[in-house]
Amino acid sequence: MSIKSNINEIRSEFDSDFCILESGQLEYKEIFYKYLGRKGLIVALYPLLSTVEVSEKPKLGNEINSLKNYISEKLSVFESNLTSEDNSKDLLDLSLPSLDKSIGSIHPITLIIDEIQNIFKKIGFSSIYGPEVDSDYYNFEALNIPKHHPARDMQDTFYTKDSNLLRTHTSGSQIHFMENSSPPIRILSPGRVYRNEDISVRSYCLFHQIEGLYVDEKVTFSDLKGTLDYFAKEFFGPDTKTRFRPSYFPFTEPSAEMDVYWGLENESDYRITKGTGWLEILGCGMVDPEVFKSVKIDPDKYKGYAFGLGIERIAMLKYGIEDIRMLFDGDIRFLRQFK
Ligand code: PHE
Repeated sequence: MSIKSNINEIRSEFDSDFCILESGQLEYKEIFYKYLGRKGLIVALYPLLSTVEVSEKPKLGNEINSLKNYISEKLSVFESNLTSEDNSKDLLDLSLPSLDKSIGSIHPITLIIDEIQNIFKKIGFSSIYGPEVDSDYYNFEALNIPKHHPARDMQDTFYTKDSNLLRTHTSGSQIHFMENSSPPIRILSPGRVYRNEDISVRSYCLFHQIEGLYVDEKVTFSDLKGTLDYFAKEFFGPDTKTRFRPSYFPFTEPSAEMDVYWGLENESDYRITKGTGWLEILGCGMVDPEVFKSVKIDPDKYKGYAFGLGIERIAMLKYGIEDIRMLFDGDIRFLRQFK
């Protein structure tokens, strides 16, 4: 076979391969190596030149070169179209719908704590934090609850191996704070508390409180009432009615519980308020002089009030949550509702 017919054959083979390439049934690389690779059909043509007449060589050499140029040109045009198509995939298409980048939501307990902090901030209360693992002294003793005092039964306690405990209320942070500061004092202390209680729709082994403490020279019970009434109206609405019932806490004297009027319009109001229409939301009272003594504040010179709000209670009311455990389960379908 002559080189000439070889060249023609390769050209027509390439033309048909190229059609297949364009139809997408062949890989670009495969064709490239078949013709232009180091062991490709074009390179294999050159040694054949040594078999022809010297006078023929330049002409046939030129023909091989032009076949080579023809092939490489067609392939490079094809390839550049290919890569420009690829690039277009990375271009920003503004007409496409956006990706669903879901944003997290804030936990309802955090929402309530933030809101309450903001309400008290307006009247000069700043926030401090006490430890969740604390000693018997801060959680009980310094709050006028000595060992064997029956009031300890009100709060079933988790003890740690080193005979510390998980705080049962945020009142211990009153002691931590007063030990290191002097009046006037106006603080809130939010956080988790723990009690060894049976888990049910209404109670859980951990929950949240906000402690409030105000200490100054002339603080009276009516300051306490006025402040808590202001809070209730800010939080529940301007027409909110409140009432105080006498109560008992070892660290306040006198002590009270505050109720807000919830209403008695439907069956769920009856259930939530146990048929009274009123709902207890906090415990409070005037700081007992014994507590002042344990933090070396002069009880003859200073008076104070304290209160402790239960956050879960308020969150359940505000958002109509029927089971307290939903607040701790971490179920994303529940939490997503609080955007
Ligand atoms: N610490 C009390 C409780 O957990 C609430 C309280 C706080 C009462 C401050 C009076 C004053 O029940």
